Amino acid sequence: MKKTLVISGATKGIGKEIAYRFAKEGINVAFTYNSNEEIAKKIATDLENKFGIKSRCYPLNILEPNEYKELFKKIDEDFESVDYFVSNAIISGRSVVGGFAPFMRLKPKGLNNIYTATVLAFVVGAQEAAKRMEKVGGGSIVSLSSTGNLVYTPNYSGHGNSKNAVETMVKYAAQELGEKGIRVNAVSGGPIDTDALKAFPNYEEVKNEVCKRSPLNRMGNANDLSGMVYFLTTPECGWLTGQTIVIDGGTSFK
Ligand SMILES: NC(=O)c1ccc[n+]([C@@H]2O[C@H](COP(=O)([O-])OP(=O)(O)OC[C@H]3O[C@@H](n4cnc5c(N)ncnc54)[C@H](OP(=O)(O)O)[C@@H]3O)[C@@H](O)[C@H]2O)c1
Repeated sequence: MKKTLVISGATKGIGKEIAYRFAKEGINVAFTYNSNEEIAKKIATDLENKFGIKSRCYPLNILEPNEYKELFKKIDEDFESVDYFVSNAIISGRSVVGGFAPFMRLKPKGLNNIYTATVLAFVVGAQEAAKRMEKVGGGSIVSLSSTGNLVYTPNYSGHGNSKNAVETMVKYAAQELGEKGIRVNAVSGGPIDTDALKAFPNYEEVKNEVCKRSPLNRMGNANDLSGMVYFLTTPECGWLTGQTIVIDGGTSFK
């Protein structure tokens, strides 16, 4: 029986790369979209055609984390198991106003939205996934994180704080889910060239700074993270839990 990955936000960027990485390994992919339904449907068809796996896409709004409960019920109807869960989706645009800003312009609503999308969505998604993983004797959960909690990044305090919080939540989940055979980790990336980063008003500045800081002289790409997310779910990582793996091209030491 093929195993199944559930991943939030796989229409583009890092999530899409992760979906393709797992599909390449013969793993079924259940993934979510928010605004890009057409693109999501095309990705599901492409994954099935290219890799001979089953793929389905579902709408989800991570600002309403309880939507995960209904989502997993639909996934139960379409797939025989849930073996891996990756909490990847992130909000941008209007919902981060007052959250993605300099310190003196921060507003509780924007900050709360980022916290909800990053931490509360991880909690509810991971809880629903863990209930299913328990039934098949275990599984692996990964949250995406970023080095905005290690390196000062203008406007990024809201995201940086919430990534700190989700990394801590990962450690707690790992302690309590280990006895069920479920490992929980985070993969933290330095700046990765995706739409989310291109939306930064100072994108060019960030890009130049990252190339300057990194001994590898380049920005990260989505596939710099996807391999590690997959690796964390493999038996080679069978004793690895509660950790954050940082992939940042060496930028956070400077
Ligand atoms: N880019 C970076 O520099 C970087 C670095 C390290 C870590 N990360 C982390 O990696 C993850 C993915 O980032 P990315 O750069 O790949 O992001 P992205 O390109 O902006 O993609 C975001 C994804 O989230 C979905 N999404 C947007 N709003 C949503 C909502 N309200 N509810 C549910 N889903 C929603 C989008 O779906 P639709 O397209 O359907 O709207 C899309 O699939 C995030 O957790 C991010 O913090 C990013």
